[in-house]
Amino acid sequence: MTQIQTRSMSQGIDLEQGLVRSQAVAGALFFLFLLLHLSNILLAPLGAEVFNEYQRTVRALYQYPVIELVIVMIPIVVHAVAGVSLYFLRRGKKAVRSLRARLHTWAGVFLLLVIVGHVIAVRGPSFFYGVFPEFEGVSFSLWYFPAFFYPYYFLLAVAGFYHGSGGMMMLLRRFGILRMRQLPSPLIGLVAAAFLTSLLAFDGRLFEVPNQLEDDFGKLYAEILHLDINSPWK
Ligand code: HEM
Repeated sequence: MTQIQTRSMSQGIDLEQGLVRSQAVAGALFFLFLLLHLSNILLAPLGAEVFNEYQRTVRALYQYPVIELVIVMIPIVVHAVAGVSLYFLRRGKKAVRSLRARLHTWAGVFLLLVIVGHVIAVRGPSFFYGVFPEFEGVSFSLWYFPAFFYPYYFLLAVAGFYHGSGGMMMLLRRFGILRMRQLPSPLIGLVAAAFLTSLLAFDGRLFEVPNQLEDDFGKLYAEILHLDINSPWK
């Protein structure tokens, strides 16, 4: 092997390590927000008031301008750019990967495809118009377009939980803080069932929810997108 080949190989390894590190740091920062966010979703079966009170409390933290940049917006961009770059860098290298490792990647790809749309859809109205979706906004979405929002929110929550917890476990194992290799399947099933219960709660299947036609978030979207929201979308 020539000197030039050796040097470019070691530069490739340095780049790969740099990307892995950036992705891990960004993932760990975003995990702080994800913990607050997913625990919020799991509170939906306790009612709109509990859900909204918790959200208002934690929102004061994650929407504090600098904090929002450091634990939400910048980590999303860095994590996604590093992930895509690693995919291209490692393409062609053959490696046998377990089903769980492949699921981790698929969940990440799903999140990559939907996360920007989710952030724009739920953060845009509060950022530009001061209208916060809260319990009633999610409730409105499920009432207005259930065929889309049930699978979308369910997959978003499960993928976020699976990818986020898997990534965090990898990191903790690397530092010798954790021994467990992966979450037990029954626990993942239980959490998925809890997310589904939350969606049923938002949708008014567990208790009565506020009238969706009165919701400001829905009204704002109706105005912007010229939707008729007097009845669910057909
Ligand atoms: C059932 C699943 C989910 C629902 C119903 C949901 C709903 C919402 C709502 C209502 C907000 C606005 C929060 C606020 O105004 O304080 C929000 C914000 C956000 N969500 Fe989700 N979300 C879900 C899952 C996820 C997952 C899994 C992720 C990430 C992997 C995620 C990432 C975000 C981000 C980044 C924001 C913007 C935070 C900010 O800067 O204020 N969401 N979501």
